[in-house]
Amino acid sequence: MQFPENLIQILNAAKRVAVITGAGISQESGVPTFRGEGGLWKQFRAEELATPEAFQRNPVLVWEWYDYRRGICQKAEPNPGHLVLAEMENYFEEFLLITQNVDGLHGRAGNRKILEIHGNIWKARCTVCRKIYENFEVPLIKIPVRCPDCDSIARPHIVWFGENYDTEILWEANEFLSKSDIVLIIGTSGMVQIPVQLTEIAKRNGATTIEINPEKSHLTNIVSFHLEGKSGIILPELFSMIRNRK
Ligand code: OAD
Repeated sequence: MQFPENLIQILNAAKRVAVITGAGISQESGVPTFRGEGGLWKQFRAEELATPEAFQRNPVLVWEWYDYRRGICQKAEPNPGHLVLAEMENYFEEFLLITQNVDGLHGRAGNRKILEIHGNIWKARCTVCRKIYENFEVPLIKIPVRCPDCDSIARPHIVWFGENYDTEILWEANEFLSKSDIVLIIGTSGMVQIPVQLTEIAKRNGATTIEINPEKSHLTNIVSFHLEGKSGIILPELFSMIRNRK
């Protein structure tokens, strides 16, 4: 891809870089996006299962959906897009990766400075004693999953529709974004408000905002640059342009 010259100059000068990722970055690893093809499980959409009401109504159904998705995530490997973000963490002076993804692929690619704002599919939380613990069984041995301490029903440690975000995590994201030189927004539709709000905060504070997505999204109109294509192709190309300048 031919990148605008001013974009490369801005990236070369950048010291503090933030990245916001959504399901699209894991698409090339074989993890389906929520709103694209393969986003349905049985006849359900994510919005019908990823809610506290759905879990209260039918915890077995919701856990079966997570069991199915955990199976996909376990088989998936980080793709070149994930791997470049791990290199970027070491390359830029200051770096933070804010992800909506729960698949754990950024950590497996090598990133350490990660805020998982929607939680993690490999963690469960007791609905009674609130203990949070890791669970890597695939498939799950017993559904619904039960707390190892008090044997009450546990739920996925995920922020569902209609639930509040962890305020400390959001504060940390805001703090970093409000002083960032660059924000890369990768593979998110912007249907959930948070990535849009975070991008707006960064932009208001003078950051250059760069979207990577094969399609137009709810963010396309507010970003400084929209790079159209798959992140597994564009990110390595973009990063090699910066590295080659040094
Ligand atoms: P979506 O499924 O809404 O959007 C995925 C985006 O990725 C779309 O804009 C696609 O065009 C883009 N995309 C597809 N393939 C791509 C590729 N190879 N490279 C780059 N981009 C690509 O996913 P999110 O925006 O992440 O919440 O959805 C936000 C939240 O809604 C999710 O975190 C999830 C969901 O319900 C919870 O589970 C709590």
